[in-house]
Amino acid sequence: MTTPGTETLKIFTLTCASPDLAKRLPRVLSLSNTVFNADHTSKYASLRLWETRLSAPAARIVYFAPVLTPDHPVAFLFAHPRIHTQPLSNGVSESLHIWLAGVLPEYRRTGALARMVSALCSDGDPTHTGVRFLTVCTTPAVFPDMWTWLKRRGWQHERDLGDGKVLMSLKQEVASNHLAACPPMH
Ligand SMILES: CC(C)(COP(=O)(O)OP(=O)(O)OC[C@H]1O[C@@H](n2cnc3c(N)ncnc32)[C@H](O)[C@@H]1OP(=O)(O)O)[C@@H](O)C(=O)NCCC(=O)NCCS
Repeated sequence: MTTPGTETLKIFTLTCASPDLAKRLPRVLSLSNTVFNADHTSKYASLRLWETRLSAPAARIVYFAPVLTPDHPVAFLFAHPRIHTQPLSNGVSESLHIWLAGVLPEYRRTGALARMVSALCSDGDPTHTGVRFLTVCTTPAVFPDMWTWLKRRGWQHERDLGDGKVLMSLKQEVASNHLAACPPMH
């Protein structure tokens, strides 16, 4: 494997309509299981649940992989639409929710998560611009890097969910040409 940081990584998006979904979804799921050391019987490791969540309109997986080996992702996030029975503090009850996000340790602190979240600005519709809300749940004591990352980038604490878990939100401007401003990582 090429030394991390010297190979060219490219950003990819998977939706339920991606022609290579059957091949690539298990690869990203495998990456997630590695990053989170997942119990293979848990919901987080369930290919069926991944397929179900990805089938929702606007659901997408954004991931980074080397240009030459796109089937070997090194970083990913999984976002899907979520309805909040208790609206967010701004009164909004719908968000694009980042269900899972992770980066292999040797690729961290190179801006992968930042670029993947930025990539969510592009919804594939060249005529669409506007505002929407991102949400994520995290447990600061378990994922301190994620907590620091969110706090430094203006994510708002919405509410405590119990057991140290919190719901965070971010207002996001959606721009149709945003991906052009997110070059591949080198
Ligand atoms: C949390 C996590 C996803 C962050 O991913 P990442 O790709 O390392 O995040 P980024 O590179 O965008 O940012 C991380 C830090 O590196 C810094 N950074 C980015 N590019 C950098 C560079 N070229 N050189 C040095 N530092 C850099 C960022 O400023 C940021 O620092 P800050 O948070 O102190 O401001 C990753 O640490 C991870 O996978 N952790 C384990 C799983 C996890 O916690 N998932 C979330 C569960 S809710």
